[in-house]
Amino acid sequence: MAETTISVRENGPYVVRGPVRLLDSDGVTYQLSGAAVALCRCGASTTKPFCDGTHSRIGFEAAERAVAEEQRSARRPSGRARAIDPRTEGSEQS
Ligand code: FES
Repeated sequence: MAETTISVRENGPYVVRGPVRLLDSDGVTYQLSGAAVALCRCGASTTKPFCDGTHSRIGFEAAERAVAEEQRSARRPSGRARAIDPRTEGSEQS
């Protein structure tokens, strides 16, 4: 089975390579395989969930690195994994 990888482009999209099934919020399914697909990370694409290059025109600046593992571990309740958005880090909501 082919491996799927997701890479983060600096101040740009997530690039997905390999087989994956993507469902958007309307339930539309995209079967992605073969060529790389860029998924919007800036929120400004007019072709979401896909990147259309708008991030370059709006000067999108993303967090450059993933949150360190020790920071993630400290925030996990009862050892459950949880995603942390570095843009909202420190503004916890219950
Ligand atoms: S990341 Fe490219 S348009 Fe949003």
